[in-house]
Amino acid sequence: MSFTVPANLEAEIDELITHYPVKRSASLMLLHALQEHFGHISTEATVWIAKKLGLQPINVHELVTFYPMFRQQPAGKYVIKVCRTLSCALGGSHKLHEHFCTKLGLDPHAHGLQTTKDGKFSVEFVECLAGCGTAPVMMCNEDFHEGVSHAKADEILGKCK
Ligand code: FES
Repeated sequence: MSFTVPANLEAEIDELITHYPVKRSASLMLLHALQEHFGHISTEATVWIAKKLGLQPINVHELVTFYPMFRQQPAGKYVIKVCRTLSCALGGSHKLHEHFCTKLGLDPHAHGLQTTKDGKFSVEFVECLAGCGTAPVMMCNEDFHEGVSHAKADEILGKCK
């Protein structure tokens, strides 16, 4: 499988690397940049980053598997992230996650990211989104939502075209 990073993105990445005294320190920024462009971090992307930074692929792979914000598989057009940390768990986030899964035909008991067959939605649990006082909180792509009731969840889904 061929893996190509567009020239303009590679130029941005090359410039980005110059901001770090040690190339390796740019690893997370490169992962963010490639995930933003490709939607996930494939094995090919891992190898590409490693080569770019003079590392072994395992050095990059361990970051991808350690940090929950990096995905190894493609996600849907809309990624719904439901916080499951303490305040949100107490505030009903497990029921909220179940609500999304049920509405979208996904398994509420499955682990990790799940994507609908049409590729429109992905649902996953995440850790604290720093809105603990207004639990339960969630994100739909880059939009942050607080105090999400089931009715509000339906509204959020309805706005995803
Ligand atoms: S516990 Fe959910 S935002 Fe902090």
